[in-house]
Amino acid sequence: MSILKIARMGHPVLSTVAKAVADPAAPEVRRLVADMLETMIDADGAGLAAPQVYVPWRVVVFQAPAARDDGLSEAERFDRTAPLTVLINPEIEVIGEMRESGWEGCLSVPGLRGLVERPAHIRYRGIDHEGHLVERVAKGFHARVVQHECDHLDGVLYPQRMADLKKLIFESEARHWLPDAE
Ligand code: NI
Repeated sequence: MSILKIARMGHPVLSTVAKAVADPAAPEVRRLVADMLETMIDADGAGLAAPQVYVPWRVVVFQAPAARDDGLSEAERFDRTAPLTVLINPEIEVIGEMRESGWEGCLSVPGLRGLVERPAHIRYRGIDHEGHLVERVAKGFHARVVQHECDHLDGVLYPQRMADLKKLIFESEARHWLPDAE
């Protein structure tokens, strides 16, 4: 396994539409997934899409560390955190009309955060690196990270989803905003 270089906003690979993976069980896909997981964990990211490591294939990985013991039910914790997941050729279906704003960051847009409104409730499906179908319903942070990562496969970075660029800020200024977010 190796830690891969991460493309930054402005590199053309981040604005191209990625190609479907013909054989999710192929050895090169397995190798890519292993390297993406290592890269995401090393960079302390919540998710990573293959175009971010210069590979224009429809592959994403994501996770969110479990929250501190905060009295959440198991369902709530699942919404606010995301289990370590690999999705090849993912699809998203929006459930209902509810939308939610939340702060996002991206390893390809280092140092910045932005407030992005997205559908609050989704169903997603894809194939994992062992060839199994993954299908889940997600809300909250979990729904947000899946949508953010899948946007990368269509060449979309989160600033393009923002309604108000006044809310594109440096991480170092986040203290002025974060307590009031969500
Ligand atoms: Ni990103």
